[in-house]
Amino acid sequence: MSQELVEKAKIKFADIIIEQLERVEAMKKESKPIDYAALSPIIIGVCFGDGIGEVISKHAEVLLRHVLKDEVKGNRIEFKDIVGLTIQNRAEQKKAIPDDVLEELKACHVILKGPTTTPQAGDRWPNIESANVAMRKALDLFANVRPVRIPKEGIDWCFFRENTEGAYVLGSKGFDVSADLSIDFKVITEQGAERIIRMAFEYAKKNNIDHVTVVTKSNVVKTTDGRFSRVAFRIAKEYPDIKLDEWYIDIMTAKLLDPARRSDFKVIVLPNLYGDILTDEAAQLQGGVGTAGSANIGTRWSMFEAIHGSAPRMVDEGRAQFADPCSMIRASAMLLRHIGFSAHAKRIDMALEICGLYEKKMTITGRDTGVTGADYVEYILSWIDSPALESTWKKYTE
Ligand code: IPM
Ligand code: MG
Repeated sequence: MSQELVEKAKIKFADIIIEQLERVEAMKKESKPIDYAALSPIIIGVCFGDGIGEVISKHAEVLLRHVLKDEVKGNRIEFKDIVGLTIQNRAEQKKAIPDDVLEELKACHVILKGPTTTPQAGDRWPNIESANVAMRKALDLFANVRPVRIPKEGIDWCFFRENTEGAYVLGSKGFDVSADLSIDFKVITEQGAERIIRMAFEYAKKNNIDHVTVVTKSNVVKTTDGRFSRVAFRIAKEYPDIKLDEWYIDIMTAKLLDPARRSDFKVIVLPNLYGDILTDEAAQLQGGVGTAGSANIGTRWSMFEAIHGSAPRMVDEGRAQFADPCSMIRASAMLLRHIGFSAHAKRIDMALEICGLYEKKMTITGRDTGVTGADYVEYILSWIDSPALESTWKKYTE
């Protein structure tokens, strides 16, 4: 009996190894990053998602279209709305991303994606893979870049979360070997670790930051985290002006709560699951996960999203219109910066900070104690269009 189980498990394991070795070969052949300056038009896909995703991504699109109205007129930018990535459609088709939606996504250059529901065993949906995770894999969006800023504390963190490997890469491929034994897999490759670590170092170099922090648990998870750490120290040798230190995920989680130390961290690079957890903690310190945006960068496509989920509870309780669109607006600014429209991005960031941190004429609470997302977008837009935007932002921040 147990021999039979072992044989079955061997076959599954062999399939996984073949798939991962193929992925390594594909990474070795990686092409150069896309040059947006050479594209006309740049196609921005807005993928609405479900739950509050549909609501807040529409708010973000209103703002993004407003900011880009001249570029749309001049045919530099084209928008495409993608509606099929709802949990209802995915459940019906039993696919993390339905084929036609994937084709639509691939026809864009960059994507603004609203949150999508991630099913779990026991809820009302079939337990299909997360649409986020599937999209990151399908479009090879290897770098999840998550900035968190708390200006009054001097905190300016940029997290580089590895996005296609680690505990996530095979999240849907673990298996129950027997009635009592379940096995998941964690994968780190030399190429996968190198490309995210290199991106973190390049960011530090470009921004004159003299140290990078790699976060692992390589003292315990010796093989995979051990490789991630080893690659980091190898890459660090190419950047003699940048110091690398390694922190373990447990103490790092504690140190983010230490006001005496936390502003020392600047650029943080880490495997997928640790990045998932630590960036929620960091976003909470900034004002909540609703305030943080996230860039999923690949060489051919990039996708920008909120760092939080679709909040089905808010929809069930009839509060979706009060959902905070700031995470998606932050993500829109990141998208603009990525495709070369930094001045637009800067205006959005300044307006977000004036509205959310300083002037605070309106507040958004997620319920009827605050304003609706639509009203809040109007508030932000009034600052984006204001000739006093920059001088006011400087007055508050200097
Ligand atoms: C995130 C989210 C996703 C993740 C979920 C929705 C699958 O938590 O983007 O951080 O775990 O990566
Ligand atoms: Mg997360």
